[in-house]
Amino acid sequence: MEAKLDAIYTSTEKEISSAAGLDDLEALRVRVLGRKGELTQILRSLGSSSPEDRARIGQKSNAIKEKIEALLEARKNQLLNSRINSLVEEEWIDVTLNPRELTIPPRRGHLHPLSLLQYEIEDILGSMGFAILDGPETENDYYNFEALNIPPHHPARDMQDTFWTEDGNLLRTHTSAIQIRGMERVKPPFRMAGPGRVFRYEATDASHEHTFYQIEGMMVDREISVSHLIYVMKQVLAGIFKREVEVRLRPSYYPFVEPGFDLDFRCMICGGGGCAVCKHVGWIEFLGCGLVHPNVLAKGGIDPEQWSGFAFGMGLNRLIMMQYGIKDIRHFQSGDLRFVHQF
Ligand code: DAH
Repeated sequence: MEAKLDAIYTSTEKEISSAAGLDDLEALRVRVLGRKGELTQILRSLGSSSPEDRARIGQKSNAIKEKIEALLEARKNQLLNSRINSLVEEEWIDVTLNPRELTIPPRRGHLHPLSLLQYEIEDILGSMGFAILDGPETENDYYNFEALNIPPHHPARDMQDTFWTEDGNLLRTHTSAIQIRGMERVKPPFRMAGPGRVFRYEATDASHEHTFYQIEGMMVDREISVSHLIYVMKQVLAGIFKREVEVRLRPSYYPFVEPGFDLDFRCMICGGGGCAVCKHVGWIEFLGCGLVHPNVLAKGGIDPEQWSGFAFGMGLNRLIMMQYGIKDIRHFQSGDLRFVHQF
């Protein structure tokens, strides 16, 4: 029996030192020390031995068991250490690497095309002394309609289908609401512009969106005439297109201006000869404008006998669509980065 114990110890010791991995080591432990292991079996069989044998062999087996456990533990630590060492060798990160040597360039964010155009037009108007003002997107009837010479039940309300809130307010249908807020804040003479998001209760399709962007402009001074309006509009267009652009006015109706116009510019794709962009008319509709209606000046606390002004309101989405040949207005709000990254 004792010889057998010695043999188990010698062979186990050898196997432990040559075990290649933690799995091998665990298998070995189970084979020798496990519930049905070689050493365990010997200890179990002691029941039938004489008390002296039992004591001696029992003691020896326990000593061997402890030695084997110690060997297993030591080898286990050795194997773990060498695994950590090889991981350190293989999976290190070179923190000194020059980022320019990385093969994937980091992707930079950038402004949305609507913001780019808005800021560009703000710069052009700003260079002519227009102050940039803001206004709330949730407006009330007074600023969006009534003060703009559109009383309740006025048919012009049907020109702009409106999202009403449950408490009787509305989502502004145009940036013209900023005119009134602006007049409440500054005294004439002044020039101001109000960019912003506007909303219409419309079914959407390729050329209609319920949410879009406008820039409002207003200038009030002594003896302002349509020629001031035309000059400023030509400056804005020259700033956008980087060259002189011909414009024309067509009579139109907006309750807050009198006279009111739609302003077109000469198609800069075909030069007026007719093409798909201008739908073969040679002109592109740009914005609504006119001389500020006396009622509107009065609502803004300005004496229409003393002062006069012009106002205009342009849409940004259509302008970008025309510049880049974009066929569907819904791209702007789609959240599709493939669209946005092109600008
Ligand atoms: N608010 C008008 C619209 O959204 C555009 C407009 C027309 C603005 C004439 C003006 C203006 O300031 O004078 O359709």
